[in-house]
Amino acid sequence: MKVEVKEGDVTNFAAPLLVVNLFEGVKHPGGATGAVDKALGGTISKALAAGEMEGKLGETLLFHTDGKIPAERVLVLGLGEAEKFGPEEARRAAASAIWAAEKLSIKEMATIVHGAGIGGIQPQSAAEATALGSLLAAYRFDKYKEEKEQQKPRVENLAILERDSAKIASFKKGVKRAEVIAWAQNLARDLVNEPSNVMTPVEFSKRVQEAGSKAGAEVTVHDEAWIQEKGMSLLWGVAKGSANPPRLVVIRYKGAGDKAPWIGIVGKGVMFDSGGISLKKPQGMEGMKGDMGGGAAVAGALLAAAKLGIKRNLLGIIPAVFNSPGGGAQNPGDIVCGLDGPAVEIISTDAEGRLILADGLSYARELGAAYLVDIATLTGASVVALGTKVAGIFATDEKLEKLLMDNVGQTGERLWPMPMFDEYNKQLESTAAGIKNTGGRAAGAITAAKFLEHFTDKKPWAHIDIAAKEMTDKPYSCYRKGATGFGVRTLLRFVERWEG
Ligand code: BES
Ligand code: ZN
Ligand code: MN
Repeated sequence: MKVEVKEGDVTNFAAPLLVVNLFEGVKHPGGATGAVDKALGGTISKALAAGEMEGKLGETLLFHTDGKIPAERVLVLGLGEAEKFGPEEARRAAASAIWAAEKLSIKEMATIVHGAGIGGIQPQSAAEATALGSLLAAYRFDKYKEEKEQQKPRVENLAILERDSAKIASFKKGVKRAEVIAWAQNLARDLVNEPSNVMTPVEFSKRVQEAGSKAGAEVTVHDEAWIQEKGMSLLWGVAKGSANPPRLVVIRYKGAGDKAPWIGIVGKGVMFDSGGISLKKPQGMEGMKGDMGGGAAVAGALLAAAKLGIKRNLLGIIPAVFNSPGGGAQNPGDIVCGLDGPAVEIISTDAEGRLILADGLSYARELGAAYLVDIATLTGASVVALGTKVAGIFATDEKLEKLLMDNVGQTGERLWPMPMFDEYNKQLESTAAGIKNTGGRAAGAITAAKFLEHFTDKKPWAHIDIAAKEMTDKPYSCYRKGATGFGVRTLLRFVERWEG
């Protein structure tokens, strides 16, 4: 979908579909919507008076214009309650308009920006949200569907209309940013949506490398021989049960000077999590093709940062592996020493994410990261605690935690802080080694975080558990069923605003 900002009046723009909007409870719309209503002889107000539309967020009502204005149809879009309106609501509204247009087989449409008027959002952010919601909603993963399905109508051109020439420049900036972010987030969604027979560690690293060269970030890929030589035995221990060899993907983007600190961001890249020898139950196991959601978010965020020319030094580390049972697989009871940190007694081979992240965190430090963030589809326990829409954040540094939490209002990706009391370490005590890799059912998301802490060497660190946020089983926000790209925007905003 191509998005273009055009200077012009809604009552004087030719298109098969024109989108205008109103807040919940409005009976006499003003602004662009009011102008269209007037040109159509008050038909919108009439419909509102008759109670045909309430203006709930994402609600739509279609009108034919009968030649009264050059646009053939007008879609009135609900923005919900004015007091609750923000960028996420603007994105969701824009997404509804795209989905409504697709149902009408519309290829060319025009829209006003949502929220720049009485919505009270800055013009650039409002335009960004409108474009981004549209681009995220237009995304489909249908390459393996029949041709008939693939040929279902798509919106090809979206014009963003504004008659005030003073706003055009900031609208264009917002749209440009939206295009980069959508590119990055949709890349992350592709990585998650692809099945594990396609998305192997080798394929994953190829795609990140390709995208990296487009974005202007340096992507280095290390193979299984390098990983073993390097002594990343926690990573290798997970990988060695699979016929598909692992890769370690390193993204380097130096946007700031030599004195600026490096931020190391580690993402879990498990291409498929069968559980290994501690095999999972079959029910729902197909969802474990998305167990690289954290790694995909790191790739998306860093490549977007590079494309946007963010002035920070960023290091992305993605251990990419399969967790498979097999003759060469590690067993419960094995004791493994990774690149750094305590020796680990493997209790469950299904607690594999923390093992590969441990070596990833150690390696990020070795490469000079002064601050650490990791993101992972780490525990079912975090899903029990927070559900499928809210991610847990576990931090040893208040500034990091605060800044990551601060993004929630802008990104719509919700995070909630979890405790990190040292008492939880008791659950990880091992008789045979330094620590065990599981701490039992109680507080399972927290003990996973406490495990990771042992590999941070007291560097300021925050961990984000996004289990079950990487995919949605029903349309939600701007996403159809499937991968969401959760984390891309949280991490991007974080690196944009982090001052060290
Ligand atoms: N990848 C899973 C966690 C997960 C659960 C992701 C649901 C997405 C949706 C992780 O590797 C895992 O298996 N965790 C175990 C840990 C346990 C063995 C300590 C879990 O949560 O059951
Ligand atoms: Zn896993
Ligand atoms: Mn697992």
